Amino acid sequence: MGFEALYQPIRLGPVEVKNRFSMAPTSAVQAETGLPTEQNYAYIAARAKGGAGIVHTGSVQGTPKAWIGQSEIQHPLYDPTHVGAYAELTDTAHAFGAKAFIQLSLGLGNRGYKADGSPGWAPSAIAKAELPGGMPDHEGFRTYFLRLPHSKAMVDGHAVVPPRAYTTEEIEEEIETYVASAKLAATAGFDGIEIHACHGYLLDQFRSPLTNIRTDKYGGSVENRNRIIVEISQKTVEAIETDFPEVAVGVRLSAEEHVEGGYQFVETRDLAVELAAVGVHYFDITSSSRASFKDFVPDIDGTNMKYAKGIKEATGLPVMCNNLHEPANYLKAIEEGYCDIVNMCRPLIADPDIPNKVRANKIDQIVRCTRCYACTLRLTVFIPVRCPLNPNVGRERYMPEYLRPPVWQTKEEMLPAQIRWDRGEGGTDAS
Ligand SMILES: Cc1cc2nc3c(=O)[nH]c(=O)nc-3n(C[C@H](O)[C@H](O)[C@H](O)COP(=O)(O)O)c2cc1C
Ligand code: SF4
Repeated sequence: MGFEALYQPIRLGPVEVKNRFSMAPTSAVQAETGLPTEQNYAYIAARAKGGAGIVHTGSVQGTPKAWIGQSEIQHPLYDPTHVGAYAELTDTAHAFGAKAFIQLSLGLGNRGYKADGSPGWAPSAIAKAELPGGMPDHEGFRTYFLRLPHSKAMVDGHAVVPPRAYTTEEIEEEIETYVASAKLAATAGFDGIEIHACHGYLLDQFRSPLTNIRTDKYGGSVENRNRIIVEISQKTVEAIETDFPEVAVGVRLSAEEHVEGGYQFVETRDLAVELAAVGVHYFDITSSSRASFKDFVPDIDGTNMKYAKGIKEATGLPVMCNNLHEPANYLKAIEEGYCDIVNMCRPLIADPDIPNKVRANKIDQIVRCTRCYACTLRLTVFIPVRCPLNPNVGRERYMPEYLRPPVWQTKEEMLPAQIRWDRGEGGTDAS
């Protein structure tokens, strides 16, 4: 099988990506809370060295309120003092030849409780529900959840302390803070900023009639429920285009909610068309919310291809698609126009070297994720991600091959990417 199609460069707005492989946003969970650590850098380095053209961060919380809601497993970026830690991360990705994309989030909404049970903010004061029918069809998953003190409340729709509903003014403030954080991300050297609007977290909760019963301009009609996503995208695009024209802006959307009474694909397609009109450069298509876990982290290959194709055709913009584990499906997805970039989370947990192995036609040497859910379960209960197929996951920091090598750079090369862009030297490729 010839895989050349996967090695054609592609542009996402101003950013040229060397191939069609991306590491999808992955909260790999470190033992430490707070800013990214050496382990985060090494995790990113392994996937960049393995050949992915883009490496995403996991979900990064872009405002203090968003961060309060989930400080256990995710990182914050909203203060200038945070920028240095992310600049190390982007330098690392670039040193290993990949573009660095940040997934910037406005928080987990009604899922944004801390392990001590204290709630965060959400569109409406509706407690989250983890529906039994939505749990993966996997022996042990539910039992495991029920044993753990801080996850018990996530099953069977048990009531937890309901979140606080944002006031209209608080939403407007959150959008402004988020946009300022996007500029901090660009300052840190990210090549792309991906707006996290999926998986039943805050922005996605605004979309859903099940979690948004507001009566102001951010609730009610579909247009009102989508308003926050359109506004945040438009303002981020405007701010980034003005100050950091070398940086791409994209949106990660769930195609369908997969819960009775939730939103459908047709609404996602219409939203994507609106977002294309405000100038976003690409889409990252996934599906579902945490309430339907089996569609969020699916166990059948290629389930989101049809959605990705629908968004690509409706908007004419480049689209990333996840849940592609079969090499024949990567190729089909790209060659038959389902998507432009294969966005891999679990496949690269199990084997960070997939892109290089495919390029060398060593398909039989790929370590294939078995969709056993070990990584996912660990994430859900805030313990570092591991994989039975890859003993190195979570300990990349101890592996010399993933330490960023010393690279001689001239003063010119060290200047922030934006200055080089302004001089007409193009892109942000520091590799
Ligand atoms: C351990 C783990 C961490 C994840 N972290 C994130 C995240 O931070 N942000 C996000 O949008 N999706 C996250 N996801 C979802 C993945 O990006 C991806 O959409 C999903 O796993 C399906 O794609 P895959 O089959 O390539 O794994 C995570 C999934 C796993 C298993
Ligand atoms: S832990 Fe299981 S589901 Fe996760 S990457 Fe490894 S094999 Fe796949």
